[in-house]
Amino acid sequence: MPAVPVWPLVRPLLFRLDPEAAHGIAMRSLRAVQAVPPLAAALRRSFLVDTAPLERTLFGRELLNPVGLAAGFDKDAVAVRGLAALGFGCIEIGTVTPKPQPGNPRPRLFRFAAVESLQNAMGFNNAGLAAVRARLAGLQPTPLPVGVNVGKNKDTPPEAALADYEALIRAFAGLCDYLVVNVSSPNTPGLRDLQNEVFLRSLLRAATGITDRPVLVKIAPDLEIAEAVRLAEVAVDAGAAGVVATNTTNDYSLLPGAKDFGGLSGRVLKEKSFRVFDAVARRLFGRAVLVSVGGIDSGTEAYRRLRAGADLVQVYTALVYQGPALVRRINEEILELMERDGAKGLGEVIGADR
Ligand SMILES: Cc1cc2nc3c(=O)[nH]c(=O)nc-3n(C[C@H](O)[C@H](O)[C@H](O)COP(=O)(O)O)c2cc1C
Repeated sequence: MPAVPVWPLVRPLLFRLDPEAAHGIAMRSLRAVQAVPPLAAALRRSFLVDTAPLERTLFGRELLNPVGLAAGFDKDAVAVRGLAALGFGCIEIGTVTPKPQPGNPRPRLFRFAAVESLQNAMGFNNAGLAAVRARLAGLQPTPLPVGVNVGKNKDTPPEAALADYEALIRAFAGLCDYLVVNVSSPNTPGLRDLQNEVFLRSLLRAATGITDRPVLVKIAPDLEIAEAVRLAEVAVDAGAAGVVATNTTNDYSLLPGAKDFGGLSGRVLKEKSFRVFDAVARRLFGRAVLVSVGGIDSGTEAYRRLRAGADLVQVYTALVYQGPALVRRINEEILELMERDGAKGLGEVIGADR
């Protein structure tokens, strides 16, 4: 299929709408695509960069490329096949909580287009464990590796948080390729307090008792670097298969005009997220699966994260600004950089700077 440059026409229309309404339209479009398998297949042919040098085994499955979709875009796993058609190597759904919850009052998602950034205070709006589990069960076998990101309900008191995570891990372990315990959203009061050694240790011990699927921990970029490294190491020592770094930031000084609530993502997060990831990777490269997310908006940036030690990079905000050709563009650029450096496979790139 020829690459039709529709995005430059569609983007201004979408950007006239409230950001959450625009997201709703994007999700409906992806669902429409997946409802017509030949259309999804044609799109996939156009967007998937299908070439051996980008392939790698991760989480026990063949990953066609190292670019994944970050959590929060498809919280309820309603558009997995449509998203697969955009050429992703893997997709992380969620955050899913045990009970369905509506999230915070709107408006709760804001664009900062001049700096290709977003601010969100969604608050884990999602359909809940039972509905998402049923949907995922209907998708087996999934067309690409799928991770499930899990979190506690807003009204779950801290002493019951562990039970929330246990129930979620038990429910999803058989239906996904990896799990992520989210203890780093800024939009659930008290959630980030779970980023402590005692909780992480008991959480990972419990998780590894429940499943042998890889369980990763997603951390915030707002921890002191040494603290982030220490907690990541505690989690891995307690059985975590890896670390996802990072979630959004509540360092509002990064964006003049930002609201004083919610989390910032996109370009303004790029360097902060890289610094945390890089420090974690220095300590854990070779010992854990490392996923880098936060402000990745080009092949050059993705390549920097891979060289720093990322097994996988993830995008969210850049997809909003650059549209459906983003994943192809990133993968093509990674290939060009590999060629420049004489790397024949990702194995020669990942961790090259370590
Ligand atoms: C609107 C929105 C909702 C998000 N929801 C979640 C979520 O439910 N769980 C989660 O772990 N991360 C969530 N994130 C964070 C992203 O997964 C990612 O860590 C962050 O946005 C940084 O990546 P980016 O700069 O590429 O967007 C959300 C981000 C945005 C913008």
